[in-house]
Amino acid sequence: MLIAVTLVVLVIGSLWFHFASPWWTTPLASNWQRMDDTLTITFAITGIFFVVINLFLAYMVWRFRHREGPHVGHRAAYQPHNKKLEWWLIGVTSVGIVALLAPGLLVYADYVRPPHDALVLEVIGQQWQWRFRFAGASAKFGGSDPRFVTAANPLGLDPADATGQDNIVIDGNEVHLPLNRAVRVVARSNDVLHDFFVPPFRARMNIVPGMVSSFWFTPTLAGRFEAMCAQLCGVGHPNMHGYVVVESEAAFDAWLKTQPTFAMTMRAPATAGGASPAAQGEALAQSKGCLACHSVDGSVRVGPSWKGLFGKNETMADGSTALVDDAYLKSFIREPSARVVKGFAPIMPKIELADAEVDALVAYIRSQGKGPAN
Ligand code: CUA
Repeated sequence: MLIAVTLVVLVIGSLWFHFASPWWTTPLASNWQRMDDTLTITFAITGIFFVVINLFLAYMVWRFRHREGPHVGHRAAYQPHNKKLEWWLIGVTSVGIVALLAPGLLVYADYVRPPHDALVLEVIGQQWQWRFRFAGASAKFGGSDPRFVTAANPLGLDPADATGQDNIVIDGNEVHLPLNRAVRVVARSNDVLHDFFVPPFRARMNIVPGMVSSFWFTPTLAGRFEAMCAQLCGVGHPNMHGYVVVESEAAFDAWLKTQPTFAMTMRAPATAGGASPAAQGEALAQSKGCLACHSVDGSVRVGPSWKGLFGKNETMADGSTALVDDAYLKSFIREPSARVVKGFAPIMPKIELADAEVDALVAYIRSQGKGPAN
């Protein structure tokens, strides 16, 4: 009896949670209302099956419960086959499965078939940061390959490919898009499996190394939306964030004009001229993904926080101590696996950096410290 009551309470509780809780999707910001419809259909079908099966189970547990008295000794009848019941089960299950799968397949077929005039945005995933590229004036993407990746060329574009020279390179985690214009996303990875996902757009796609995957959507709401990585891609995965700013076509065009072409990034030194070394370092820490693992507010992530790091005596895993100064930081950035700081796993990736970039990063870390050189 207790089990039957528990099952009924479970059903009522689940229904209450579904309808009363705020556990719903964020407001839709793209054309993919059909994604939400598909989700609703799936919820309804699985919900109906959940309720019916559990109530049936509760009824059976109650109906055929153990009883004292004249019923003692009753046994269930053995029935190896019931053709009619089996046909019913096969029929209902088949209809349920078709209804679960078919809407998703229909939506997916359109999801990977973009309109011809769509704006093409390339998304590049790398542990643990996002970068972006637009085609630029030529309207064509130049070739790319992970073996071309250097400090000055983090997207790995082919320097010899003339088509790619005017491609717009966004070496940072924020990209802008025009409102109400179809965008075709082509995505690739420089290392492992990632997944570019902006929840309000209801659009996402796995990014498999060695493949280019694609989908499309039309942003229908202006705003700044958070993009996240939706595949576990290493220790920095939870901090692999990006932003998509949706704005008017005019604002987007103005923003795009301020972004450098590939040719410009290859000509200019990797760090922005004019800014102080610490400010350059801050921009680098953003664009190179350092801040996925190192905070500047004292909170401990995968790696030590940079707040108060400079000038401190750091304890190594082998018990020795080392003063955190310029030389320490430089050698650590260059050879992350040479030493291990106590309490942290030796997982810092070696990132290609020019000497000037290392200097800028160290200047930024120094500015977050409390050491004598501060
Ligand atoms: Cu990239 Cu998770």
